[in-house]
Amino acid sequence: MKETASISFAHRMEGVPRSFIREILKVAISPEVISFAGGLPNKKLFPLEELQASAVKLMSGSDRNILQYANTEGYLPLREKIAERYAHKGLQINPQNILITNGSQQGLDLLGKIFINEGDALVMEEPGYLGAIQAFSIFHPRFVTVPLTDEGIDVDCFRQAIANENPCLAYLIPNFQNPSGISYTEERRKEVARISKGKPLFLVEDDPYGDIRFQGERKNSFYHYLPEQTILLGTFSKTVVPAFRMGWIVAPDAVMDRLIVAKQAADLHTDYFTQRLVYQYLSDYDIDWHIAQICEAYGRQAGAMMQAIEHYFPKEIQYTHPEGGMFLWLTLPEGRNAMELFDLAIKENVAFVPGNPFYIDKAEVNTCRLNFSCSDEMEIEEGIRRLSGVLATLG
Ligand SMILES: Cc1ncc(COP(=O)(O)O)c(C=O)c1O
Repeated sequence: MKETASISFAHRMEGVPRSFIREILKVAISPEVISFAGGLPNKKLFPLEELQASAVKLMSGSDRNILQYANTEGYLPLREKIAERYAHKGLQINPQNILITNGSQQGLDLLGKIFINEGDALVMEEPGYLGAIQAFSIFHPRFVTVPLTDEGIDVDCFRQAIANENPCLAYLIPNFQNPSGISYTEERRKEVARISKGKPLFLVEDDPYGDIRFQGERKNSFYHYLPEQTILLGTFSKTVVPAFRMGWIVAPDAVMDRLIVAKQAADLHTDYFTQRLVYQYLSDYDIDWHIAQICEAYGRQAGAMMQAIEHYFPKEIQYTHPEGGMFLWLTLPEGRNAMELFDLAIKENVAFVPGNPFYIDKAEVNTCRLNFSCSDEMEIEEGIRRLSGVLATLG
């Protein structure tokens, strides 16, 4: 059943990119391959027993509502817990302004639905999160890319983009960005808020990794500087488990009203049983203790990767120094091709993601994303050693 020529599909799917990473992961699946290609949290750190106990407790009660349809906004006590966690970071958020979503990925889709008309300008970081490029592409925006520097988005380019392109949204990941691992400095955050203030624009702050900080001090959210124009996306995917698909959006009242309608139309509500299960887990266990275990492990693994790069790689190769999250970004010398490096690397049983899918319209790139959350320190050292051999072959 390959024949699709006679099927008339909707125009909106035209040009929406396939997940390139999924294709790469197929090549990287063999057990001999040391893979830095994935983007998954480390399953060894999933709180399996705690979640088992929470599920048993929930199912052993007599509350049949746990299996019933529920409201679109989400389980209020869970939204209150999320608001409480924001309060610990100094952000006062009303639980009524939190909508529980099917992962933060659904948040991107809902925001696209309510904000983007075909041809509307949308600011994205370059390189940018592949899942956001895919989610927003369905609405056919005009992507306005702004390069990232080591300190966050390039503010001069950002200022120009806002002044010249009149975007409706700026989609930004200020903490341990996917794919680059870069975090915005405090000054850069203030500057972005200053530039955006009073413009007909929302800053969409996607923050799946903010809690996974293994080094340095926590920085302020854009919400701290510009609450009326900031929309926050959050998720339990990296701190509890991704399988639950449990995320949320924080948005001002007027945006919230639209989001609720879009969410209702999409799926009525996020899986209610799982919302109750996450709430039970958060009530019975100390998630901050659990997050500290994740930070400790990822910090060690990131450290091993940076040390091995320093030791084995030629000095011309630049790399980011993430203070959290799951990714590090390599920049090869000018003129080198990351796809070529990938093809050679796979023959030596080591994988990574060439930078290509993280750009909107660049065919040849000299950048690579390396994931450190899923390999132990010995594998990391061996993988980087193998990669250094491949780099030598590439010249
Ligand atoms: C920047 C970013 N946003 C959103 C997501 C999607 O997360 P979720 O599992 O909450 O849908 C990811 C997942 O890797 C991500 O890296």
